[in-house]
Amino acid sequence: MTGAKKLYIKTYGCQMNVYDSERMAEALGGQGYVETDTPDDADMILLNTCHIREKAAEKVYSELGRFKGLKAEKPDLKIGVAGCVAQAEGQEIMRRQPLVDLVVGPQSYHRLPELEAKARGGEKALDTDFPEEDKFDHLKARPKAKRGPTAFLTVQEGCDKFCAFCVVPYTRGAEVSRPVARILDEARDLVERGVREITLLGQNVNAYHGQGPDGADWSLARLIWALDGIDGLERIRFTTSHPNDMTDDLIEAHGTCAKLMPYLHLPVQSGSDRILKRMNRAHTAESYLRLIERIRAARPDILISGDFIVGFPEETDRDFQDTLDLIEAVNYGYAFSFKYSTRPGTPAAERDQVDEAVKSERLYRLQDLLTRQQRAAQEAMVGQEVGVLFEKPGRLQGQMVGKSDHLHAVHVSDSDLRPGDLRRVRITDSTPNALGGRLA
Ligand code: 5AD
Ligand code: SF4
Repeated sequence: MTGAKKLYIKTYGCQMNVYDSERMAEALGGQGYVETDTPDDADMILLNTCHIREKAAEKVYSELGRFKGLKAEKPDLKIGVAGCVAQAEGQEIMRRQPLVDLVVGPQSYHRLPELEAKARGGEKALDTDFPEEDKFDHLKARPKAKRGPTAFLTVQEGCDKFCAFCVVPYTRGAEVSRPVARILDEARDLVERGVREITLLGQNVNAYHGQGPDGADWSLARLIWALDGIDGLERIRFTTSHPNDMTDDLIEAHGTCAKLMPYLHLPVQSGSDRILKRMNRAHTAESYLRLIERIRAARPDILISGDFIVGFPEETDRDFQDTLDLIEAVNYGYAFSFKYSTRPGTPAAERDQVDEAVKSERLYRLQDLLTRQQRAAQEAMVGQEVGVLFEKPGRLQGQMVGKSDHLHAVHVSDSDLRPGDLRRVRITDSTPNALGGRLA
């Protein structure tokens, strides 16, 4: 074979996996790989996997099964599994699906070049350690490739909260924050490459406490203020936050930092104190509602989004009604909701499970309410003037699509618009999944 080797990466799950996939592509770029968007001509296939719910985890095996034909045609093809399924199941993956050559957990991506070489040499390569070194220090970007207007930047990883349903503390490990200087360097580099909006990522991003240049631990708010000083960076977002780490300085930043966008993803999971306790959430419905009030006092137009789980073990109709009541009280602008899924090794897996049909019925009712709130929040934008960062052409001729400050998709037809333009837009209409408008 001549020329570059081809790498196909498929990403499942959360935004951190999207960020990690970019870093893996860069790490393998150093080994002569270029990315391809189809598995058919790949020399290496990497699945960056998600373990959060059973369905997500099982998808990996059906996807792997589909590569059997390709591997038979092309014995040199290497197949790897990365991400949280790799971390959780390790060697078991190769046992269950022998065509897998390489398994690498989320904390070991900087070791990919060695693992790739090992796999090329015909050996099985596995690394699911939690090494001491900072993997990001070893994942150097390729020289100055141009980027789109928005980017993710991981600032914190892992979780020490141990919610009773969640695998994250086991797959991503203990909470670790990256040092401030590294984050600022990476942010400046992104801005030089065309990025105008950065979303700071962490499983518990508002628990961020990275070392500052002064040697002290910096809070997320302090980091945001430092990013605010970067010329050319226009918008800052962060996700995902835990209610108990919503500190005063962070709430205040929502009211005073103009680059910090009026959108906050603040999962509550349930509105029943009984269930919250069993989930080990360490907050109540009431404390969450009070927190939302304080955040809205700082930034009245902020759009709140959340995550919900229905059918957590022992959840009764009364508990579920409490969740609906909380949703009514908060009025969400956006939400993700799930049926509880049993995860091996987590405390809730051992408890009395709720009937699948009951879960389905509750999810249906919950989503109906959330969808109505979401539509109303979107429709309330009609007639308003909002900031929009344009990202790419829309489906119609001359149309551009971007995201509003409140993270709504916005279409505008104007042939002068370019990706990366940040403009004021008068919203004129609302369809189920997007807003339309014209330049103000
Ligand atoms: N079952 C269902 N949903 C889950 N989540 C996490 N673990 C589970 C589980 N076992 C949801 C939570 C979390 C989101 C990322 O996924 O709502 O906030
Ligand atoms: Fe999982 Fe989030 Fe709870 Fe951590 S805080 S255990 S990541 S749901």
